[in-house]
Formats: sequence, C-alpha cells, structure tokens
Amino acid sequence: MTPYVADPVYFNGQFLPLAQAGVCPLDRGFLYGDGVYEVIPVYSRQAFRIDEHLKRLQATLDGIRLSNPLALADWKKVALTLIESAPWEDQSIYLQVTRGADDKRDHAFPPASVPATVFAFASPLVTPTPAVRAAGVAAITVPDQRWARCDLKVISLLANVLARQAAVEQGCAEALLIRNGLMKEGAASNIFVVKDGLLLAPPKTQLMLPGITYDVILELAKQHQQPLEVREISETELRAADEVWMTSSTKEVLAITTLDGEAVGDGKPGPVGERMWQWYQDFKNTVMRKG
Ligand code: PDD
Repeated sequence: MTPYVADPVYFNGQFLPLAQAGVCPLDRGFLYGDGVYEVIPVYSRQAFRIDEHLKRLQATLDGIRLSNPLALADWKKVALTLIESAPWEDQSIYLQVTRGADDKRDHAFPPASVPATVFAFASPLVTPTPAVRAAGVAAITVPDQRWARCDLKVISLLANVLARQAAVEQGCAEALLIRNGLMKEGAASNIFVVKDGLLLAPPKTQLMLPGITYDVILELAKQHQQPLEVREISETELRAADEVWMTSSTKEVLAITTLDGEAVGDGKPGPVGERMWQWYQDFKNTVMRKG
C-alpha cells in the first residue's frame, strides 16, 4: 500500500523517519492548537507557487505573533529535500509551525527561549478523478461558527472539522460556510459562483482564507476576459446560481452540482467551470510540467 506520509519527514531541523518524530505532549499545538500550517501542491516535483505559500505562512505567523523559525531559503531547502526523497512525481507538501513546548501549561506565550516546533512532510497529491469531475460533487451549507480571523491559516480547525464531518455524514464532499447571510468559503476550499455567465468571487476579508488557488482563478479569469465581480455573495444568490465551484491546492477547480440536496443549475458541471478547469490545467502544465 502506498504510504500517505513519505519518509523522511522534516522535524525540528532534522530529516528522519516519521516514527522517530516525537512531539512533547506539552506542545502548544497539542494543548491549544497554537500554530500555523501550509499545504503546497507539487507537480512533476516542482512546488506550485511556493513563494506565495511561504508569504501566506509569514502573514499567518505575523498574525499570531510567532517569529518564523526558518528563513525563506531554508523553507525552500526543506521542501526541496522532501520533494526529492518522496516516491511520487505529484505531491502535497504540508508545513506546520507551533509555538513549541514549555515546561508548564499557561495560555500566555512561553518565554522566547522556547523554540517553535517545526514539522513538514510530503504525501501523494490526490486530485479529483475524471469521473468525479464529470459528475461534480455534493455539498451542504452550515452556519460559519469559526472565529473572526479566518484569513489566518492556523491549525485550530475545530469548526472546519465539524463542518466537514457534517458534510461527510450526509454523503457530501464539502460544507459551505454561511455567516450573516453571506457565503464565505468552504470548510477547506474557496467557493466561486456563476450567474448568467458572470463569475462571482467573495472578497478577501478577515472572514475568508486568501487561497493561493483563488488568486490563480482570478488571474486566469482576467487573462481570458471572463466577466468577473469580486464582491460578497448572499446565501440567496448562492442558491440561485447556475454554477458553484470549490477551489483549493488539492481539489484544483471542482464543480458542486448538488447543494443541500437541490441541483445547482441543471445539476451538471457548467461551461464556465469547465473552461476554468482547462485554463488551470493549461497554466499548470505551462509553468510546471517538464518535457
Ligand atoms: N485548505 N479556505 C480554507 C478554509 C482552506 O482550508 C483552504 C485550503 C482554502 C483554499 O486555499 P488554497 O487554494 O491556498 O489551497 C480555502 C487546505 C488544502 C487544507 O487545509 O488541507
């Protein structure tokens, strides 16, 4: 069986087997969910938009007032070593930093002498199969019960976990988060809507993660003169949409064809989403693929 995590992993300055990466139970990631993470897709052993992912990592670290334990060049070296030693051409690199382990439990920050805990690993990139893409996926809506800094990619993901679990229990792939009548994003993806040929994207605020894939989608829409509006999307507009799609580093562009048991548009992936998926593949293949 293909392992999910490649050996070696990176753990606090060393490359070692996953089984040897021991985290102290007093680690603040474990006690408080006090940490940050990134997920970077890798195509043909080349990390996609790594600079943007590392920039977002820095923004999240700044947002939680944790200094970056590695220089940019060192993050790249870590990623490169993981990518080179993993057995897959297409991968997903996971990076995590927590505020480390003090010798006691106290909500306030530990002394500066307590080092951050740094963990990174490679796993195979599993993008949606052609069959899943052709049918699209089902989603539900749930109230957005997250905190007020959803722009930070932090490891405290309990509200996202509960939302996604509710989706899975209803045979769905994603949960769309509704706050004050507005659709913000998915539990682990950004959401786009199409109405009468117009592509709608929620704006970047503190209530949505600024997706790296989201940025690529906006760039591609502009480049191909796809009519686009970046503005809040109401729950009513969501339900009346011709197309709804989710985007993320691992899902790329995936049509949501059923929402709360109702067909989205005609219940099939729509033409704008299909074109966007193709533009995304073309872009990816141009900038990433070898030979
Ligand atoms: N999730 N919004 C949320 C809440 C997310 O968790 C993610 C990604 C996105 C999309 O961001 P990007 O395009 O940069 O992947 C939006 C990752 C994949 C995860 O948690 O596994």
